[in-house]
Amino acid sequence: MSGEDDARPGLPAETGRRDPARVFGEVADDYDRVRPAYPAALVDDVLDYAGSAVRGRRALEVGAGTGRATVAFAAREVPIVAVEPDAAMADVLTRRIDGMRGVEVVRSTFEDFRPAERFGLLLSAEAWHWTEPSSRWARAAGALADTAALALIWNNERVDDPARRAAMLRVFADHAPSVVIRDEPVVPDDVWRQWPGEELSRRSEFRDLASRHYRVRRTVSKAAYLGLTRTRSQFRMLPAPTRRDLLAALSDLFDDEVPLLVDTALVLARRR
Ligand SMILES: C[S@@+](CC[C@H](N)C(=O)[O-])C[C@H]1O[C@@H](n2cnc3c(N)ncnc32)[C@H](O)[C@@H]1O
Repeated sequence: MSGEDDARPGLPAETGRRDPARVFGEVADDYDRVRPAYPAALVDDVLDYAGSAVRGRRALEVGAGTGRATVAFAAREVPIVAVEPDAAMADVLTRRIDGMRGVEVVRSTFEDFRPAERFGLLLSAEAWHWTEPSSRWARAAGALADTAALALIWNNERVDDPARRAAMLRVFADHAPSVVIRDEPVVPDDVWRQWPGEELSRRSEFRDLASRHYRVRRTVSKAAYLGLTRTRSQFRMLPAPTRRDLLAALSDLFDDEVPLLVDTALVLARRR
């Protein structure tokens, strides 16, 4: 969502061909700084939904990144095993949780992670689309205790000005036509017709499907907006000269500030 590429990863960076699922660490500090925070009410909603399932059990976070969601849950005294495969992202996360109790960082993909316990909650913020499609639901069900909760979260940021949004789309079409911008928010009426809702609703391991939707308007500096663009996987996969020209063209479009509409979708389910 939000302009992310949900194509499955290719080869890891070490082979020379970069993996679109693993490019975030190239800009880990910027990523942590410029990506909009998740709404505080979302944490309340997840914990309300999970109810007693989280008592006495830890939560598992898949693709914890720099910990933007992790710290919000840890601050509510939810003990968390935060699984993150990228070294640079995990380094920021480890720094961020310094002094916080109850967070264990595991440097691994979800696919390679072998849980030694059943969790009361599995949460994944802007990362579930990077997990292996053929195994993710079964893996999630296997990691969760009976009646435990699944919470999948995505932010969607859109330029909150029709003329400048149209101009931004033209810049991408001109400079990088391969980039697919999906900046339409997931709305309640559509959530079970689109991925992941539509796929999740067909899984027999889960019940009590629900969603919550949040919207805030934020004005960010042009530098922060360009920084946000630099953290997108599809942008990072472009050749360096294309990235440079694209950023210059985007910079010409905006004054000092960029109005953003930030929509957050939370998809919830319970393990049978
Ligand atoms: C867009 S970032 C989201 C990070 C963080 N959850 C947040 O909300 O900011 C996606 C994260 O998923 C991680 N990731 C990619 N493939 C993964 C996999 N197979 N298993 C677990 N995490 C994965 C990436 O390294 C990256 O940190």
